[in-house]
Amino acid sequence: MAEGERELVRFENVDGIGVITVDNPPVNALSPGVPEGIIAAVERGNADPAIRAMVLIGAGRSFIAGADIRQFGTRRPVVLGKRPHDVLDASRKPVVAAIHGYALGGGLEIALAANYRIAVPSAKVGLPEVLIGILPGSGGTQRMPRLVGPKKALELITSGRHVPAPEAHQLGIIDELLPEGADLREAALAFARRVADVRPVPRIRDRDGKLAEAKVDPGMFDAFRKSIARRARNQKAPYHCIDAIEAACTVSFDEGVKRERELFDELENSDEARALRYAFFAEREVNKLPDIPRDTKLRPTDNPAVIGAGTMGGGIAMSFADNGFDVKITDATPEALERGMARIRANYETSVKRGSLGADEMEKRLARIHPVESYDDIADCDVVIEAAFEQIPIKEEIFKKLDAVMKPGAILFSNTSGIDIDIMANATTRPQDVAGTHFFAPANVMKLFEVVKGSKSAPDVLATAMDLGRKIGKVSGLAGNGDGFVANRSRAPFSMEMIIMLEEGALPEQVDKVMVDFGYPIGPFATSDLSGLDIGYDTRKRRAAQYPNYRKQPIADRIVEAGRLGQKNGKGWYRYEPGERTPYPDPEVARIITQTAAEMGVEQRSFTDDEILRRLLFASVNEACRILDEGKVWRASDVDVMWLHGFGFPRYRGGLMYWADMIGVREVYNQIAAWHQRYGERWAPSPLLRRLAEAGTPLREAKAEGGLR
Ligand code: 3HC
Repeated sequence: MAEGERELVRFENVDGIGVITVDNPPVNALSPGVPEGIIAAVERGNADPAIRAMVLIGAGRSFIAGADIRQFGTRRPVVLGKRPHDVLDASRKPVVAAIHGYALGGGLEIALAANYRIAVPSAKVGLPEVLIGILPGSGGTQRMPRLVGPKKALELITSGRHVPAPEAHQLGIIDELLPEGADLREAALAFARRVADVRPVPRIRDRDGKLAEAKVDPGMFDAFRKSIARRARNQKAPYHCIDAIEAACTVSFDEGVKRERELFDELENSDEARALRYAFFAEREVNKLPDIPRDTKLRPTDNPAVIGAGTMGGGIAMSFADNGFDVKITDATPEALERGMARIRANYETSVKRGSLGADEMEKRLARIHPVESYDDIADCDVVIEAAFEQIPIKEEIFKKLDAVMKPGAILFSNTSGIDIDIMANATTRPQDVAGTHFFAPANVMKLFEVVKGSKSAPDVLATAMDLGRKIGKVSGLAGNGDGFVANRSRAPFSMEMIIMLEEGALPEQVDKVMVDFGYPIGPFATSDLSGLDIGYDTRKRRAAQYPNYRKQPIADRIVEAGRLGQKNGKGWYRYEPGERTPYPDPEVARIITQTAAEMGVEQRSFTDDEILRRLLFASVNEACRILDEGKVWRASDVDVMWLHGFGFPRYRGGLMYWADMIGVREVYNQIAAWHQRYGERWAPSPLLRRLAEAGTPLREAKAEGGLR
């Protein structure tokens, strides 16, 4: 080993116990050298007569977080013949896996191939491979069903969820759960001494008892395939996981491992696996703010307050309470506050009725939301999120008041979906402490948390905002200040095109079907019905007044003017049976569309599914390029993260820009240029898109040149 080079796997003899320490920061991924190090250590322990048993433990914050995802899809060297789990299987001396932090994927598979597993209570274990489009490829699909039974294994492996150690202990994945505060290494050494003489060493591969479940109920696999059909559509990995678990129940262990490997190989470079890997890293990139040092000291946020107890403010307060924060909430009048608190309770009660929240937990969360009547009551809060009406004078007034009462250094955020943040900032004497935090409705559910940089927002305020979003379970993304910021602005042309295609002869149900087939959980017209059509109506009127060139959308207006407001009154782009949420195509809507199109003199034609898809998404790709060109977002991949978490874009397609790259930047550009000729200015290709197409540079690599503005 060269001087200064880190030893990835260490072996030491501690009174006859061989302690194998994996040390590959930050998460002990199985990068090249780590599996080889584990193999060598286990073999050394077996060969050394002074060693009676072994402990496998991770240095730093985790056990082993799995294979090194960066290595997938590359021509990584194959460790011929031996893999760590084979060597662990062959070990004649007991090996105890000592788990803290995360034991995920290949990390848990190694622990499962060891003979015993102990863990601290805060540890999490899981087989999350399906989330990156593959399956556990190191025996996980064969050992897990033997340990927990095939039914539970199906749930764990196809969801990929992280299982908290206490639950893992109940399931039998962990043999011993240590008490809070126990010293893991010491406990593992003691455990290893206790079991050092057990022969033969116990191996999960030899335990077949639980597999009998599948003999009793051989139809469970097909039933499970059917049960995931909706959420797993267009994907292969969840089905391959099921196939591998089924193999565990029907063929020998060794044949099952072979089958697992074949299935793994089919997935490793599939389109979905590549897209999901991209999404994984894009979600980590989005947290990095290139112009703000990573070690920037964050401001405190333990003590938050929300102004405005409407739907949005209430949802924001719930996000805090759901994530363990005590939060104060206030509104202009005691009545409004009371109504808001009642709505919050009603929202929680719905979750309790649906079974997704326990009644006790609801009371705990409600007890964390503290209604207060005056601004003086929030003066000592660390952070305030204003979520009042989207009207400039109201917001200005609130920021003036906040400026007067809040303690120095408190952070002032505005939850606006479109108002210039500088207007609020300039209403205070401390614009450096002001930024935007744009939640998406419903605020307690949607994951995207768009942080908006005002022209004077201090770096530590932005870094704190990004961190706060993560603390309340969101995915934070940074946007420059500008009309619609990044997420909504990039989505706006999509919304426009979907209406224009109706003018040309498409129907809402056709457009929705295309997008659902593509992978959205629900089509865009059905989504509009869910949110209510009156909001869009008001926005269009405002925009038409503000921008002389604003393209009107007469069909959308007519629908609202015909009294169709969406699900809330049982008719919108669809009709709804009383008390139901199923959208039924409505001949009246088709009539309004045809009639309005005739009045507009637009020629009618039919659309292919592909044309619908491209019209909607290319319009947004072009706008996203403009946003990048204007320096309003750092990276194209940030736009992708926003689409994944703000709009339900199918994750296995990577994101808007990644998806467009799969078609090819030149083809996207050529199509947009052709539509520019045909439809006019709204399709003018963005200069950045043209430059990328000329250079053949993938869209996903585009960055804001010259920083975020
Ligand atoms: N491979 C490569 N890099 C990884 C990694 C992995 N498995 N897991 C995490 N990292 C990197 C991240 O990219 C990040 O790098 P950066 O600082 O340069 O951006 C760094 O480690 C820290 O990660 P996070 O910011 O995500 O840290 P958190 O503490 O928030 O989360 C975690 C930790 C829960 C372990 C999360 O990183 C995670 O979910 N990792 C992926 C786990 C996984 O999917 N494992 C299975 C891999 S597939 C496999 O094992 C195949 C096998 O069956 C054959």
